[in-house]
Parts: sequence; C-alpha cells; structure tokens
Amino acid sequence: MSPESTEVQVRPGVEGDLEALTALYNHYVGETAITFDTAIFTPEERRPWLLSHPEDGPHRLMVATEPETGEVLGYATSSPFRMKPAYATSVETTVYVAPGAGRRGVGTLLYTALFEALSDEDLHRAYAGIALPNEASARLHERFGFRHVGTYREVGRKFGRYWDVAWYEKPL
Ligand SMILES: CC(C)(COP(=O)(O)OP(=O)(O)OC[C@H]1O[C@@H](n2cnc3c(N)ncnc32)[C@H](O)[C@@H]1OP(=O)(O)O)[C@@H](O)C(=O)NCCC(=O)NCCS
Repeated sequence: MSPESTEVQVRPGVEGDLEALTALYNHYVGETAITFDTAIFTPEERRPWLLSHPEDGPHRLMVATEPETGEVLGYATSSPFRMKPAYATSVETTVYVAPGAGRRGVGTLLYTALFEALSDEDLHRAYAGIALPNEASARLHERFGFRHVGTYREVGRKFGRYWDVAWYEKPL
C-alpha cells in the first residue's frame, strides 16, 4: 500500500454524500459493464439506495474521502443477498473507487473498514458478483478471503453483448 493511502479517511456514508456517490456510480453505469445497471441515476433516484444502508446493522455504506478536500474517492457496501428471510445471514458486498483514484489502496481501506464494521453483526457469509473480466476486483476480493465458487455464463446483456459473472464467497 502506498504512503498516500494512509491519509485517506473512511467513515459511514451520509445523505450529504448523495451527489458525489451518484456521480461516481454513474461513471461505471454509463461507461462499463462492471455493474448491470444500464441507465444513469439522478441523486433523488439514488436516495433510497443510500437510506437502505444506515450506520448500524448488517447493511452498511462506507465512504473514503480525501482529507484536505473532502472529495469522495470511493465507497463500499454490504446489502441484502436475497430477500427471503433465511438469507438474512448473508450479504452481498461491493466496492467502487473513483476513476483516477485506483491502485492507491483505497479499495483495501474501504473493505477493511466494512468488514470491521460487520464483525459484530449476525452474519455468516458475504458474496460478491464480479462481471468478467475484472482483474482488479478479483484480486481485491481474494485478498479479503473471498473464494471463487462459480461463474454464471452470459447472465447479463449490456452494450449489445453478454457478460459472465463470477461469484465469490467469504465466511464471516
Ligand atoms: C476493484 C477496485 C475497487 C480496486 O480498488 P483499488 O483501490 O484500486 O485497489 P487497491 O489499491 O486497494 O488494490 C487491491 C488489489 O487490486 C489490485 N489492482 C488494483 N487495480 C488494478 C488493476 N487496474 N489491474 C490489476 N490489479 C489491480 C492491486 O494490485 C491489489 O492486488 P493485490 O492485493 O494482489 O496486491 C477498483 O479498481 C474499482 O473501483 N474498479 C471499478 C469498480 C469495480 O470493479 N468494483 C468492483 C465491482 S465487483
């Protein structure tokens, strides 16, 4: 990890982050198949997502900021894996770092803070679905103890072609 990354601050996300988080996510929605959302969001459309990740409980939002400017550098979430009640001990996690802020350890800081925050929750498994190819994400998830459990072939269509999603699992 570079020395720069030690300056980055990580804290729970708040409503004041809504615009910056929406803009960050919209970059990946509009420019990549990393997420299978296909239409960019207004901040208002994205508000329910933000509010569904409060400061306690199993479904969290952690935000990384540049200390001097407060600029949002990335975020990580834990979210319901599936809605049926027996899935309540599983979460799906994801992490997005702003374009231009990659390879500075921000993703590592975010996942460190997220899994620390989840350590007292009644959770048993975390899952991550990685649209392929995405070497950076695979490496980050493996670093945090996720293991590849299978790949859904051509499970999504975006930009006129089909994409595989590799699923990763981590014991909590
Ligand atoms: C995946 C992502 C979150 C990684 O964040 P990051 O801050 O760049 O990662 P870090 O600097 O903490 O490095 C973590 C690991 O990823 C690797 N990595 C980061 N960027 C990489 C790249 N472009 N190519 C290959 N490996 C890369 C690092 O080498 C490191 O690997 P190691 O643990 O084997 O040393 C970031 O690249 C990103 O936001 N990508 C776009 C969104 C995305 O793919 N999110 C995940 C959805 S499943």
